[in-house]
Amino acid sequence: MKNIYSNIIKFNSKNLIKIINILKKNGIIGLPTETVYGLAGNAYSNNAIKKIFKIKKRLKKNPLIIHYYSLSNAKKDVILDKKFLKIYKKFSPGPITYIVKKKIHSKIKPLACANLKTVGIRFPKNKIIRKLLKKLEFPLAMPSANKSSGVSPVKPMDVFEEFNNKIKVIDGGISNIGIESTVLNLVGKICILRPGVITPKQIENVLKIKLNTLTKQTVVKSPGSFKKHYSPGIPVYINKNKCPDKYAFITFGKKYPVTRNSFNLSRKSNLNEAARNLYKFFRNIKKRGYKKIYVAKVPNTGIGIAINDRLKRASK
Ligand code: TXA
Ligand code: MG
Repeated sequence: MKNIYSNIIKFNSKNLIKIINILKKNGIIGLPTETVYGLAGNAYSNNAIKKIFKIKKRLKKNPLIIHYYSLSNAKKDVILDKKFLKIYKKFSPGPITYIVKKKIHSKIKPLACANLKTVGIRFPKNKIIRKLLKKLEFPLAMPSANKSSGVSPVKPMDVFEEFNNKIKVIDGGISNIGIESTVLNLVGKICILRPGVITPKQIENVLKIKLNTLTKQTVVKSPGSFKKHYSPGIPVYINKNKCPDKYAFITFGKKYPVTRNSFNLSRKSNLNEAARNLYKFFRNIKKRGYKKIYVAKVPNTGIGIAINDRLKRASK
């Protein structure tokens, strides 16, 4: 009998060749990154991109992030200015996506960018994906490896649960960060379209500017800021200080007692740890059959801004 998990594959030199071949033939594959697992395909291939949109049931107007190994690769497709370079030097490779202008002769397929004149580009830090990107002659279009509006996967089994045996997934263990990259818009008004572990303060310090706040217009520009998103599939209620026994209670900090239905994001009140646990808890809670999730207050500073952003959307 075929092992049902045989589509979760180890990263070794033999499989690296296999993966490259899948991608070259316009196939798609689940890959680890330091933020969350992604669903990758050749960004220069319409066939590959179509497959990504289809399997995710993603709206065509929601653009994909294009992942590169290096600046010299990205330069062929997008226009990079001084501000970009400053911030790139500080935070990449790492958990940040830059919205920049697309070159007219860019090879990125318009479908990947929802026909926009801009592109979201990212240079992931995870060692596995970097080894792979280095060997490829094209960048990878790669949204999070979950069905649209659901919770991003943070381990190979999560990806398997989303797509079963439809795709192969490379086992890179648990994602170190656990929530998606910060999305920074660098075209026109500089602003954060999606908060992440790289915080507004850190960006302001490097660019020596005050970031613009999101307006209705910029929200439309980033379709990922659709309100309902990151949903675990059961109702989520935020900013609660207690919770009925029959529902799951996501807490934060040592003031909350350990109970059968409680899931503490970080007893030490560490926001990095909380980010790493959030999606893991969402999936576990759903699996255990809880019908509702109550969530305690999480401080809205630093990485807490990103955690609250995801909680708010999950609660819509
Ligand atoms: O951490 C991450 O960013 C993960 C890993 C796999 O890299 N990827 C990810 O992709 O979260 P996705 O597709 O789930 O979210 C991409 C977000 C969406 O909100 C999308 O609207 C926004 O980036 N985006 C992409 N290109 C854009 C563009 N040209 N303008 C505005 N927003 C863009
Ligand atoms: Mg996503």
